[in-house]
Amino acid sequence: MFDRYRILETLKNWIDEYRLEHSVNVSKCAAQLAGHYGADVEKAELTGLIHDCAKNLPLDKALELGEKYGYEPDMITRMNPILIHAPLGAYLARELFDIDDPEILDAIAWHTTGRKNMTLLEKIICLADFIEEGRSYNGVEDIRKLAFVDINRALLAGFDLSIKNIVDKGKLLHPMTIEARNSLLLEIKDEEDVKLA
Ligand SMILES: [Fe+2]
Ligand SMILES: [Fe+2]
Repeated sequence: MFDRYRILETLKNWIDEYRLEHSVNVSKCAAQLAGHYGADVEKAELTGLIHDCAKNLPLDKALELGEKYGYEPDMITRMNPILIHAPLGAYLARELFDIDDPEILDAIAWHTTGRKNMTLLEKIICLADFIEEGRSYNGVEDIRKLAFVDINRALLAGFDLSIKNIVDKGKLLHPMTIEARNSLLLEIKDEEDVKLA
């Protein structure tokens, strides 16, 4: 069992109150999803709690820390710095909380862009991040309902909304998000083919 109190105390030095509340919500939601889909509940709870540990770092500090860890953001990430906190967060979580479980570190690293062939834990964290109880964007209720029916379709709906939002704002779209979406579509198609066979 992880030491929740110690983690919260450490997190308070890195993220603000708003982000801490969001992290607690993601942790709660991730645990529920893990229970529902037969994943490791404790691992989901822990990953949810620490997934945004690098979110409040100012860009210069984030780049400095990245350099220390040998992490170099790709061009799209560099031009859309909000994306840095996810891969950087995996390095930071390893240092702050002594975590070396690659499943947890990957789920932190890919929680914003997603990626091709996401693991169940990666899907859970990404989806929990979209639908935790503090989220209130248009369409969130539909995704919340779908989340406990079909995780792939719920996550696809989350990515679709997020992609539309990025396009509407004229911002750069990370290619990993397109890969994540295509991969989910193919998984859904495979599941349908199995059902029809
Ligand atoms: Fe995040
Ligand atoms: Fe988050």
